[in-house]
Amino acid sequence: MTKKVLILGAHGKIARLAEKEFLEKTDDSLKLFLRKASRLNPVQPDRETVIEGDATNLEQLVAAMQGVDAVYANLAGGDIKQQAQAVVKAMDKVGIKRLVWISTLGIYDEVPGKFGEWNNSTLGSYITNYRAAADVIEDSDLDYTIVRPAWLTNNDEVDFEVTQKGEVFKGTEVSRKSIAHIVVELIQNNTELKHSIGVNKPNTDGDKPSWY
Ligand SMILES: NC(=O)c1ccc[n+]([C@@H]2O[C@H](COP(=O)([O-])OP(=O)(O)OC[C@H]3O[C@@H](n4cnc5c(N)ncnc54)[C@H](OP(=O)(O)O)[C@@H]3O)[C@@H](O)[C@H]2O)c1
Repeated sequence: MTKKVLILGAHGKIARLAEKEFLEKTDDSLKLFLRKASRLNPVQPDRETVIEGDATNLEQLVAAMQGVDAVYANLAGGDIKQQAQAVVKAMDKVGIKRLVWISTLGIYDEVPGKFGEWNNSTLGSYITNYRAAADVIEDSDLDYTIVRPAWLTNNDEVDFEVTQKGEVFKGTEVSRKSIAHIVVELIQNNTELKHSIGVNKPNTDGDKPSWY
């Protein structure tokens, strides 16, 4: 079934890879929500609508969500909890259930060993902010999937494995292209509902990501 997907933070690096895959591999149409909309030029204008807005602005979110089947949030920043609150509130108001939310590894202290210690000390308050945002999503009654990527690379590859909440995180890195691919599949197949999934490239265990 063809869907209308709202992408929040549509100029983000993973979001742009996902947009390409949505256009190439599905018939879905996209609403691209971002700050400074002039940065994005639709390649298929009949399937893409660009909307300028800020993810902390409830009114702008509600307006953007009209006619939408699923929301993919590729957001970031120190106010990520406020963004999560606004997104949940807007989805409740408009009556949309499906949300794919990009978070990060480490929010449940699920990263083991030396890499876990390094990850915590390197990321600091970023992790607590992202945990607070994930709590907002998990406390909602949305059909959410929280995606917790390992450290991101720009490698041109789709190669990943998944761990569930409650399991130990695996590996150190994963490509943005893999995360974009997962997002498109999650929305196409409506899977991993009310799950929080860790995503890593297999066989990348180590004390730090390989480039550190
Ligand atoms: N780097 C890593 O190794 C790593 C690992 C795990 C998870 N992550 C997280 O994964 C997520 C996605 O990664 P990415 O590489 O795609 O990140 P990205 O390129 O930084 O994209 C995040 C987007 O969020 C947008 N944004 C922030 N605040 C906003 C607001 N109030 N309203 C609307 N848009 C807003 C930014 O918009 P502007 O362009 O307007 O600033 C940006 O385009 C990020 O949250 C990142 O922290 C990163």
